[in-house]
Amino acid sequence: MSTLPQVPHFQTTLPGPRARAIIERDRHVVSPSYTRGYPFVMARGEGAMVEDVDGNVFLDCTAGIAVNSTGHSHPAVVASIVEQAGKFLHMSGTDFYYEPQVRLAEVLSESAPMPGPSRSFFGNSGAEANEAAIKLARYQSKRPFLIAFMGSFHGRTLGALSLTASRSVQRTGFGATTAPGVFHAPYAECYRCPVGLTPDRCQAECLEFLEEKVMVHLVSPDEVAGLVVEPIQGEGGYLVPPPQFHQRLRALTERHGILLIVDEIQAGMGRTGKLFAIEHFGVQPDMITMAKGIASGLPLGVVTARAGVMEWTPGAHASTFGGNPVACAAALTTIRLLQEQLMANAADVGAYMLDGFRALQQKHAIIGDVRGKGLMIGVELVRNRTTRERASRERDRVIDEAFSRGLLILGAGRNALRVSPPLVLTRAQALVALDILDASIAVVACEAGVQ
Ligand SMILES: Cc1ncc(COP(=O)(O)O)c(C=O)c1O
Repeated sequence: MSTLPQVPHFQTTLPGPRARAIIERDRHVVSPSYTRGYPFVMARGEGAMVEDVDGNVFLDCTAGIAVNSTGHSHPAVVASIVEQAGKFLHMSGTDFYYEPQVRLAEVLSESAPMPGPSRSFFGNSGAEANEAAIKLARYQSKRPFLIAFMGSFHGRTLGALSLTASRSVQRTGFGATTAPGVFHAPYAECYRCPVGLTPDRCQAECLEFLEEKVMVHLVSPDEVAGLVVEPIQGEGGYLVPPPQFHQRLRALTERHGILLIVDEIQAGMGRTGKLFAIEHFGVQPDMITMAKGIASGLPLGVVTARAGVMEWTPGAHASTFGGNPVACAAALTTIRLLQEQLMANAADVGAYMLDGFRALQQKHAIIGDVRGKGLMIGVELVRNRTTRERASRERDRVIDEAFSRGLLILGAGRNALRVSPPLVLTRAQALVALDILDASIAVVACEAGVQ
């Protein structure tokens, strides 16, 4: 039984007095490196609805940056957390054994799109999962170099940051300390194709820069340990590559004995309608990194690798908290809910929303591109459909307008709206989100004179 209204509902003007007071305290004591856009101060959540500390209710199309896959505080997830917490909170899987961690590794081995069995390493976050993948790739291959993609986001710890090529502010001031030996190549950004092709003529020619330039002039492929790629680029703007992009990468990595590492941290765990987004592209990677949605909001990062790849000596890598039993219990229930129902819901409601956004694109000239799979949808705003000039300021304004109407949404890339709701979103809620965005875009397009 839900106790929150299923549509946005305000008790105060925004932000309300309690929210204002907390934001003021935050200003003095919390790191200013966080990038808060609008003043939402969470009090509680239920499904896809969230309430702020002043009793204002919002529809959440962020899922806390693509994390609350099963919705806010799903009763079955909460029950498994409470049950495990009542038994023990921690024992460190690096030195001892406990069944929830083993069970989760078994479930991942059964469901990961890889040939044969796999093994899993557990950490606490996406960045940590990618750190482990970097180390394992180097350890396993005895090769020093890595390849990643422009626009990619893989985390902000120093190893992961070396792969990340999202926004320069994330690297500024830290440059000399990022790990050396990472080369970046263009990603398949089809709306702005790096080689000027249209999807019907595309054979993933954007990868020629990697094959003909990077691997010829900069690094010998037989010195590359791993190639790290997001199946759908997340922070970069929710970019969906054509299948041939990933297929060509798989062929390239096989040819040169390079490990293909797929970062499913944002796109994975059912969000696209399949448990792993790479399954849409008919490719089997050597390693998969996961975090965000895997435990519905508890911190957990995982690298799953083919059994023959995850071979390293005791002590080579570990984390005290990694694979915490409560987080593993939450993950087991999360994956069960995804497989029973929520992946199918993501596919259904996602297709419904994509249609809705395509209809809005007919109406608003400021919408240049609509793309996505399942409930991972990007809506790119442009000042001019011919020049495709990025409407970055306008995108930020749409986000603010949506907040003032009761919808939480984030941006992705320089000028896209990121639709990443909890996977429990209903069609009725999707319609509310579409209506709010329709109204918000109309106001901003009018202000900007893009009609
Ligand atoms: C694709 C991808 N990889 C890695 C990360 C880093 O995860 P975390 O913030 O948990 O370290 C993110 C976070 O946004 C992500 O989107």
